[in-house]
Amino acid sequence: MKKILALNLKMNFDYKDIKNYVVALNDNLKASDIIVLPPMLFLPYFISQNYKIGAQNISEFDNGAYTGEVSCSQLKSIGVAYALIGHSERRQYQCENDDKINSKIKKALENGLKVIFCIGETKEEREMLKTSKVLKKEIVDGLKGIDENNLKNVIIAYEPIWSIGTGIIPTNKDIVDTTKFIIDTAVKVFNYKPKVLYGGSVNEKNIAELNKINEISGFLVGGASLDVKKVLKMKEVVEK
Ligand code: PGA
Repeated sequence: MKKILALNLKMNFDYKDIKNYVVALNDNLKASDIIVLPPMLFLPYFISQNYKIGAQNISEFDNGAYTGEVSCSQLKSIGVAYALIGHSERRQYQCENDDKINSKIKKALENGLKVIFCIGETKEEREMLKTSKVLKKEIVDGLKGIDENNLKNVIIAYEPIWSIGTGIIPTNKDIVDTTKFIIDTAVKVFNYKPKVLYGGSVNEKNIAELNKINEISGFLVGGASLDVKKVLKMKEVVEK
């Protein structure tokens, strides 16, 4: 099956860069299933250009006195389709814990947004053979209290933290084993079989090999999504 490609632009690009990026894409992603996650500020620009888009963050609150936050209903009202929740950079720099992540996932689903829910272990946790334990806790705590019907709108992104931005990726076998573990856990605990994306140093060179993994449904790409040539090469691979 054709795999999903989600492009996490993180906090990169100013307005001029974004316009150049869109010009260079030359309508190439518009009719595709590729999801662009631009900085919040540029969401309306991508929407006006008819891209399928997601927000890199959402508020766990409804509209009201929450200075600096953007609500799910506000995002939904301009045509945002996806919310990225639980990314390790937000867990690390914004101190987002499993409880907060769980509240955000619930709020996004309540407002009709699809969720890309990130989980992943650190290098130390991997070395101490704690990967399964960490992933299970993130899944169980992140998704608690969400019914089966809503869970079908949650895609899990497995992003080993030691692989993000490092150029180091797990072997295909490792990804297969971990993905099976994630799916098994979700089935056992929640009776839901998630789609699982892989993220961490995916680029135009390694994506063809990673694309052979049947167990994963696609990719969440950071660094390589900033270069249009790389994006177009990755698109070619997933759409083959
Ligand atoms: P990377 O980032 O592709 O630069 O490793 C992935 C991510 O953080 O989503």
